[in-house]
Amino acid sequence: MSPEARIREAAEHLRSGGLVAFPTETVYGLGASALDDRAIARIFEAKERPRFNPLIVHVPDVEAAAAHVLLDERAHRLAAAFWPGPLTLVLPRRAGCRLSHLVSAGLDTVAIRVPAHPLALELLRASGLPLAAPSANRSGTISPTLAEHVHASLGDRVDRVLDGGPCAFGLESTVLDLSTPVATILRPGALGPEDLEAVLGTPVEVSAGHADGDAEASGAGLRSPGCLLRHYAPRTPVRLNADPGSLTAGEVLLGFGPVKGAALNLSPRGDLREAAANLFAALHALDTLGATGIAVSPVPAEGLGVAINDRLRRAATPP
Ligand code: TXA
Ligand code: MG
Repeated sequence: MSPEARIREAAEHLRSGGLVAFPTETVYGLGASALDDRAIARIFEAKERPRFNPLIVHVPDVEAAAAHVLLDERAHRLAAAFWPGPLTLVLPRRAGCRLSHLVSAGLDTVAIRVPAHPLALELLRASGLPLAAPSANRSGTISPTLAEHVHASLGDRVDRVLDGGPCAFGLESTVLDLSTPVATILRPGALGPEDLEAVLGTPVEVSAGHADGDAEASGAGLRSPGCLLRHYAPRTPVRLNADPGSLTAGEVLLGFGPVKGAALNLSPRGDLREAAANLFAALHALDTLGATGIAVSPVPAEGLGVAINDRLRRAATPP
């Protein structure tokens, strides 16, 4: 296959909900359509992530970013200086934003960047999709900087790996939160605070711990990610492992599997990928009903069920 045909074929695979690993200037990413909940669920499944951490959305240029998020003046300045490049900006979702809620783990912000690698940019343009892409390795293992690393870590979980040779930086992008008045580095990376301050003309804060999904899974000396990420939690109390017969007055049931009387069902046929894809949207929807409680059917703690249960436990923990 010619390089162009390979890109076209990979873009088609992404449009039909598949996964494609591709090189960026930082590390290889495991990409999927950021508009497709099921495709995003496949990423978590392939990486065996024990948690649904929000993922970075990759776009080909700043105009494409503006379709999904609100860029303020700081964001425009930084984008002009560093995009394409290893800077990820956390920005508010635009009203009517079509990005998957799983991609932002239910938050009202999105982490977005324009990667500086010709193959990544060609893939983004050919697919016409925003691509969610965490590092293309199993959770808790070292990030891949060669196509061979991706094959070794993910094997047949990813059937398309675009080989772009070694990554120039070999270190993930810097994640900068611009959803707050003071710009704050959430994840140190390829660009340092001085680089950003030089463009912004104001001090940048660096948060003490950071919340990288893979490192967190390996327990690599991080503080609780919950301290930094304002995780979405429903206002309505959540009760886990609920039997359909146990519903109290005013409670609604979030079902899983063939249960009767559920207000919503994560997956009537008991499919964990489908359940993961529906999780955040279902919690949002049930939270708007004015119910006294959300009772949730048991979800088996295997495969993606581990991350689903982790998220449900957090949702059920009183503030
Ligand atoms: O260099 C990179 O950024 C690589 C390459 C493939 O582009 N991608 C990458 O993606 O590292 P990912 O999805 O693994 O990075 C997620 C990081 C985590 O530290 C996560 O906590 C943060 O971005 N993040 C994502 N969305 C966020 C949000 N809405 N608010 C705060 N942090 C967010
Ligand atoms: Mg990673």
